Amino acid sequence: MNNQLAALEKAAAHAAGEACSELDLQQVRARFLGKKGELTALMKGVGSLPAEQRPIVGALANEVKDRLETLFNSRLEELRAVELQRRLTAERVDVTLPGRRLRRGSRHPITQVTEEIVSIFASLGFGVAEGPEVERDFYNFEALNIPRDHPARDMQDTFYVSDDVVLRTHTSPVQVRTMLNQAPPVRVVAPGTVYRRDSDITHSPMFHQIEGFLVDRRVTFGDLKGMLTTFINEYFGTGIGVRFRPSFFPFTEPSAEVDIQCVICGGGGCRVCKNSGWLEILGSGMIDPEVFKAVGYDPEIYTGFAFGMGIERIAMLKYGVNDLRLFFENDLRFLKQF
Ligand code: DAH
Repeated sequence: MNNQLAALEKAAAHAAGEACSELDLQQVRARFLGKKGELTALMKGVGSLPAEQRPIVGALANEVKDRLETLFNSRLEELRAVELQRRLTAERVDVTLPGRRLRRGSRHPITQVTEEIVSIFASLGFGVAEGPEVERDFYNFEALNIPRDHPARDMQDTFYVSDDVVLRTHTSPVQVRTMLNQAPPVRVVAPGTVYRRDSDITHSPMFHQIEGFLVDRRVTFGDLKGMLTTFINEYFGTGIGVRFRPSFFPFTEPSAEVDIQCVICGGGGCRVCKNSGWLEILGSGMIDPEVFKAVGYDPEIYTGFAFGMGIERIAMLKYGVNDLRLFFENDLRFLKQF
């Protein structure tokens, strides 16, 4: 039995040395010291030895057991140290490597142009107002002096949600909403999305406008001209030619469309300006007394001017973009240029 113990100890020590992971070692421990392990089996045999041998062999077996426990524990420490070293090497972080930059997106050109225009008007004392895109007929048409039989109300141009509700066809209804909420003086710009049933290289069913208006005592057409000329010089540069051309809108009287000298050819005539040398950029006029009546302003006391412009059109002229649809396709190769 002594020989068996010695052989077992030797085999166990060898197996522990071979074990190259914590799991291996656990299995070795179970194989020798577990409930069904080899040493345990041997110890059970001690009882059947002659009485005088039992204490000696028993003590010897216990010593072997203790030595194996110690051996397994120190082997365990060793394996853990090796594993730790392996992980420290494998998972090493080089803090001196340059960082990976997060690529930042940028604002959409339409948003950029909108913010730039709004900030010019903010510097001229204008506040910002907004209104709903799904709009009542009253605000979009009726209060703006656009009668029932006006062509602008045609199903061809307007998305009707119901008889009385439309997708707003312009930002002008924000004028009505603002004036109903606020007594003069008012000085507001209203950027926003508008909708029309129209789609080709220069028209999109969804596009953007900025509305602006100012109401006070003694506001004149001269104020309108001065304010819009200031804006155009700020946005397109001081050298650019500006002209006011008589026009018609139901909600302004008199009305004018404003042209700037063609930014492509400088006024000499080209395809973009259809050889006229001029580009139309906005509609404007003195607010019609009928509009004041609809919102409860006294047209005998107050006068005001209003204007509206298409943001995509301004962006196209400013950046020389020749297809409106580029703004809505969200091709990164296009957007990254802004
Ligand atoms: N609402 C007009 C449109 O969508 C643009 C416009 C013209 C707005 C003249 C105005 C204005 O405020 O005075 O075509």
